[in-house]
Amino acid sequence: MHDDIDRILIPEDEIRAGIDRVAAEITLAYTNRDFTVVAVLKGSCVFASDLIRRIPVPLELAFLAASSYGSGTTSEELRISFLPMDSEIQGRNLLLVDDILDTGRTLYKLKQELLRRGAAEVRTCVLLDKPARRSVEFEADYRGFVVADLFVVGYGLDFAGRYRNLPYVGALKAAAYHRASEAL
Ligand code: PRP
Repeated sequence: MHDDIDRILIPEDEIRAGIDRVAAEITLAYTNRDFTVVAVLKGSCVFASDLIRRIPVPLELAFLAASSYGSGTTSEELRISFLPMDSEIQGRNLLLVDDILDTGRTLYKLKQELLRRGAAEVRTCVLLDKPARRSVEFEADYRGFVVADLFVVGYGLDFAGRYRNLPYVGALKAAAYHRASEAL
């Protein structure tokens, strides 16, 4: 798996430092304010589990599953497989946590949907931000790192379902990308 990586973009120690910084911002913002971290599966599972352990104030945890239709590299139609229960949404301050903000469509639509279902407030937090790819006007309230328009994998991010378990964020080799694309 490591052989498929062209270069490491964000090594483990930098990820840790970035999460410490974001966690401190979130802690400051939510001290004495009830809130629920809503992790967007699958990509955010690694980031969200590290992030919440660095936020030393009370919080609740919920999940939703959303993915772009198809398993290619472009974001297309969004499919929401499941959402938190109504009681976990209505009147609550939600912090949506995702691994990457790319075109912005996922978080834009999820935020709209959660507000439509009665959330009191919805903020967003992403590990990675790829502003070059944005197709809707949307910015995250909290973000770890800005990345260039490369195909990034690892630390929760996949290509064709793989590489989520790499401990760093890396750029995939073109050969690995083509090999996996042909197998799709
Ligand atoms: C990825 C990522 C974000 C979304 C970002 O999810 O985890 O949720 O795409 O893209 P966007 O800003 O262009 O909408 P994906 O659909 O690959 O599902 P996954 O989390 O299960 O990998």
